[in-house]
Amino acid sequence: MKKLIALLLSLAMVLSLAACGSSSSTAETKTEEPAAAEASTPTEAVEAVGDASAAPSTDGALDLTGKKIGLAMPTQSSERWINDGNNMKTQLEALGAEVVLQYGDDDIQQQVSQIEGMIAQQVDCLVIAAIDSGSLTTVEQAAADAGIPIIAYDRLLMDTENVTYYATFDNKGVGVAIAKYVEEKLDLANAKADGKTYTCELFMGSPDDNNALFLYNGIMEVLGGYFEDGTLDVKSGRTSFQDTCILRWSQETAQQWCENYLASSYADAHLDICLCAFDGFAYGCKAALTSAGYTAENWPLITGQDCELMATKNIIDGTQTMSIYKDTRLLAEKCVSMVGAVVLGTEPEINDTEQYNNNVKVVPTYMCTPVAVDKDNYQEYLIDSGYYTEADLNAAS
Ligand code: GAL
Repeated sequence: MKKLIALLLSLAMVLSLAACGSSSSTAETKTEEPAAAEASTPTEAVEAVGDASAAPSTDGALDLTGKKIGLAMPTQSSERWINDGNNMKTQLEALGAEVVLQYGDDDIQQQVSQIEGMIAQQVDCLVIAAIDSGSLTTVEQAAADAGIPIIAYDRLLMDTENVTYYATFDNKGVGVAIAKYVEEKLDLANAKADGKTYTCELFMGSPDDNNALFLYNGIMEVLGGYFEDGTLDVKSGRTSFQDTCILRWSQETAQQWCENYLASSYADAHLDICLCAFDGFAYGCKAALTSAGYTAENWPLITGQDCELMATKNIIDGTQTMSIYKDTRLLAEKCVSMVGAVVLGTEPEINDTEQYNNNVKVVPTYMCTPVAVDKDNYQEYLIDSGYYTEADLNAAS
């Protein structure tokens, strides 16, 4: 009898080890691309893809069969949110979940109604990227009353206790990366001694998006001194966040502002830097500069954020200088691990429990690392990581 029990026990151990092996290899397959994007150098990224010993991610083992997840995304007006929505949907469906994905078209009331609809459908979890981060408190309370947990996606949900986790990029780090790029590219540290100054205008993000102020603060941490000592000369005089933030991240407003600056403050001067917090703003500046007669010979340095496909094409043809690569596949994966945590009780991946205070609580967060991309490294970060294909870049816009 004892022998039989021992035999059965060892058989059970062999079977469970085999099961572990198969689930960890599934996890490895899932983490391949994001691991590549998170690596700090392109070479590491390429190596990480082929690293069979990479640690399995917790979400590789999630089974969300029978669970319904509501994804409330802000807009389809910029390509990144379409990718975010699709990545989340694909990853969640691959784990067996049913997904309700809706876009608010930058209309706050529409987003509120969509979330109300998801609550009525009794979703098991809500993932929200808000249009206006502080305008959802009532519907968030309704979700909480219905027992539905909420995860903030990329944009923090403000003024509510009803948010469990936050998946984002290091938003201050985005500002620092943009600013450091400008500082190094123009050698600002030595500019003063060389008697050089650069004209610059700021196009910052939406005041109702918590990310925007973080980004601005990151920029000022690096460039603040250069604005103060005149190395960076803002002819419009507008340097504060209040004076430079653009509601709803509107490309049209950025274009309008740039046109106004060029016609007034720069009627007799050259604009050297468009410090843009978003690719959409860079497109707006590009249009304004083109109609004002700027050409490749005197084109300014233009920054951006998101590495949208259009921005990447512009980086290649020289009409945008740089952007910030935010791998939406990675962000989706971290968010999925949080969905697992609230729906199944698994451990989410968290790497920040201090920075993101929404005025009611500090929200446990996973911050992905942003990377500055320009024409010298886009190949490694954007193509070799599989984010875009050469065909994507060559396709007509
Ligand atoms: C922000 C985000 C940026 C950009 C912007 C406009 O919340 O941090 O990466 O996408 O929205 O869509």
